[in-house]
Order: sequence, then C-alpha cells, then structure tokens
Amino acid sequence: MSSTPSNLNVTYMGLSLPSPLVAASSSMTHTLDGVTACAWAGAGAVVLKSLFEEQITAQVEHELSLTEDSLYLAEAADYVRNYTTENAVGDYLELIKKSKAAVDVPVIASIHCVTPRGWTRFAHEAELAGADGIECNVFIPPFDQKLKGADLEQRHLDIVAAIRKETSLPIALKVGYYFSNLYRTLLKFGRSDIQSLVLFNRFLYPDMDISTMKMNSSSVLSTSADALRSLRWIGILSPEIPVQLAASTGIHDSADAIKQLLAGAQVVQVCSSLIKNGPGHFKTLNEGISGWMAGKGFSSIDEFRGALACDKNDIGAAYERVQYMKLSFGDKS
Ligand SMILES: Cc1cc2nc3c(=O)[nH]c(=O)nc-3n(C[C@H](O)[C@H](O)[C@H](O)COP(=O)(O)O)c2cc1C
Repeated sequence: MSSTPSNLNVTYMGLSLPSPLVAASSSMTHTLDGVTACAWAGAGAVVLKSLFEEQITAQVEHELSLTEDSLYLAEAADYVRNYTTENAVGDYLELIKKSKAAVDVPVIASIHCVTPRGWTRFAHEAELAGADGIECNVFIPPFDQKLKGADLEQRHLDIVAAIRKETSLPIALKVGYYFSNLYRTLLKFGRSDIQSLVLFNRFLYPDMDISTMKMNSSSVLSTSADALRSLRWIGILSPEIPVQLAASTGIHDSADAIKQLLAGAQVVQVCSSLIKNGPGHFKTLNEGISGWMAGKGFSSIDEFRGALACDKNDIGAAYERVQYMKLSFGDKS
C-alpha cells in the first residue's frame, strides 16, 4: 500500500496518479529497486532513466554512417559503447516489464534523443513491454552554427511525429529553453501530437577552480532557486496551452511543488531532492502538500491548480518590464 493520501489524485497524460509528484528520469529510476522504492514512498508515477538514442543506434552500427548527424552520433556511440551493456534495449524492455509487474503507479519509458531517425521503433517495443507512456527528452545543445533556429524547432516536431507513427501511447516532450521565442515555440510544441510538455531540461554548466586553474563542473544537483524558470513559464503558458504541463527542476520541498501547481502545472517531477534525501522524500513531500491543502480548506488539487497563473490580460513580458521600472536600489523610501 502506498502512503499517499487519496485527495492528491491527479490525471496526467490520460493516466490516473495517486499524487502529483512524479519520480523524474534519473539514476534513481534506473533499477527495479529504485522504481519500487519511489512508488512505495508515494510517487504518483515513475519516469524510467532514459535510454539514449545512441544506445539504440549503436546496436545497428551501419545506420550511423547513413545519418546527417553521423559525426555527432559516431562520437557519442563510441562513448556509449564503453558505458552501456551489449543489449541495452533488451535490458530496458525488461525493466519496463518488471516495473509494471511490481508497482501500481504508471511507469513511463524515457528516451533521450537528438534526431527522429534510427531509433523510433523503440517506442512500439516499449508499448508492447507495457509502458504507460513515453517521455521524450530532446536534448540538442544549441552549439551548431549550421542548425537554424526554425530547424531546431522543427526537429522537435519531427521527433514527435516519428514517435507517434510507432505508438498510440501518450507522449510527454521534455525540452530545453534555448529557443529564440520561447513562448511561441512552446505553444507550437503544445499544439503537436503530445499529451504533456515537461519544462525544462536541466543543462549542466561548466565552472572553474581558480586556485588550480582547472575546469570543473557546477553542481549536478539543483537547488530550489533553480525552480523559478519553470515557475515563470508554467504560469505564463498554463492558461492557454492545450496540453498538460509538468514542472521539472528545483522541486525540493512541498512549497516548491505547491507553487508549481498554483502556476498551473499538472504534475511536478522530482530528481535532485530524491538523490539527496532518498525515495522516502516522497512521503515528506506528499504530507507537506496535504497539510497545506488542509490548512487552506482544499480537498482536491484541481481546486487550486492554476490559481496564480499569469492573467491573460497582463502580458508576462510587460509585467516584468514594469517591475524593473519600479526597482531603484538607491531609493530609501
Ligand atoms: C544523476 C542524474 C541522472 C539523470 N538522468 C536523466 C535521464 O536519463 N534522462 C532525463 O531526461 N533526465 C535525466 N536527468 C535530469 C532529471 O530528470 C531532471 O530533469 C533534472 O535533474 C532537473 O530536476 P531536479 O532539479 O529535480 O534535479 C538526470 C539528472 C540527474 C541528477
């Protein structure tokens, strides 16, 4: 029995979840033990650790030389070969089957990709293995001089269309935020054949150690401060986008989760705080949300979801400009 109180029920991607807290794709959801620990502690759904496009295409080596992304993929495939098992796809399908047999919350397969070619049949195989949905993390760092902004956006839509050809499962699209007009682009994605948009991917940043004068990486794990980007865009988009929004990045405590729901998120995904605190953190988060709801007199999440979403008549960008006009740090009044 899960410890989740029933008044936290939500639907997401057409699926019934006992809680709006979703275990994000990560090392925590890479094993059956991790998946069951999250579900038993109160996760409303589990997104499995991603299978990478290169893991699939590396099993069909000759396809690499046929794609226009062959340089990138060939390099990535070399890397993947060293870090993945011989039968990554088979192992992944086994994880889906075993997870479905072990837990009673939805199990969402995840794919990490950069192109719509060579791997999309996997979506069909994931459906046959029993996955309840597919989350597609399109992770294209914007460093390619030759890739125009419009083509980058189109690539996302092509990937969605290619997956849709292979499966009738609900699709969640997990995206970054490096687009020239983020608002318009996200709306365009929201009108494609998906059920949910996951905002956002977390890009890791390089950092430097000035004593050794060497490069190092900034923290892999987020903090609550990192949640503000998703909060803004979920608040702006939720009143008008025709798909459900999942908040991702920086949800560490129940207040972080409640804010995203108030902005209009259907669910929130949790990763860093689980890695820090262990899967038992789901219980703490669910209790925090329930306690807050009881204090405010809410008996379901639908009663307050979107209560603080952006007012359609108050264009978000103009609102922020006015805020800056009001700010004057020299002014003591
Ligand atoms: C160790 C680790 C592994 C991750 N692996 C994946 C992955 O395979 N696929 C994916 O879409 N996101 C992956 N992520 C990103 C998380 O799903 C999540 O989007 C990101 O960490 C931001 O959420 P957070 O602030 O709650 O950590 C990973 C994150 C971490 C820390």
